[in-house]
Amino acid sequence: MQLALSTWLEVEAYLARSDGVILPTGSTEQHGPIGLIGTDTLCADDIAKQAATIAGGLVVPPLAYTPAPFNMAFPGTLSVSVDTFGQLAREVVEGLVHHGFRHIYVLNGHGANVAPMKQILAEQTVPCRLKSWWDFEAVNELRREWYGDWEGMHATPSEIAMTQANHRVVKGDCLPPPQKLTEAFMRDHAGDRHGPPLEHREQFPDGRVGSHSSLARPEHGKHLFNAAAQAIADDYLTFLQH
Ligand code: NI
Repeated sequence: MQLALSTWLEVEAYLARSDGVILPTGSTEQHGPIGLIGTDTLCADDIAKQAATIAGGLVVPPLAYTPAPFNMAFPGTLSVSVDTFGQLAREVVEGLVHHGFRHIYVLNGHGANVAPMKQILAEQTVPCRLKSWWDFEAVNELRREWYGDWEGMHATPSEIAMTQANHRVVKGDCLPPPQKLTEAFMRDHAGDRHGPPLEHREQFPDGRVGSHSSLARPEHGKHLFNAAAQAIADDYLTFLQH
């Protein structure tokens, strides 16, 4: 069930049988030469909707404007500050609690959201759970099998494959592999801790950060999407027992 496609009467009826809700969080930022600007939001939102269908849950509209300052040198990226994102997320979560939701499940698709979101959820008095779609073993098995190290950190073939399956394929099968990342780089830049925009673009001129986006296939995307939705539906149902 989707909040945006429901009437208030339907939401009231839902609340009479469940107090669980799923809030997707993504980003609006460049995802390399063949990745859509909305990739993170589309992945989280699509998976959340499918998980809700499986688990009988309710999905609210995604938080799509989030912090991605390091990508502002690429046209189309729209970044908001951590404070603005935090304030918006906080007020949305508080609104849900106000209406009687008591199990808030955040499904994330963008690394830079994790730290601020954790902090906001820790302030709440109702049970909250934060998961990113790549937190689940069933998903990671597929990512390892198909892409190995070429999954990389940004504009990953797995996220692009899911948008190919659910939205559109941008031609670009022949992109050369990106520069390989060192282990030290991956450790130091986890959670999207990247430098200033111009420096970031200079370092990664086409926007890919260690990810060989051209390995993405819509068929992969369908499998990844289904594996993620099933894993998250199961996790959501376990969370409701809390
Ligand atoms: Ni992404």
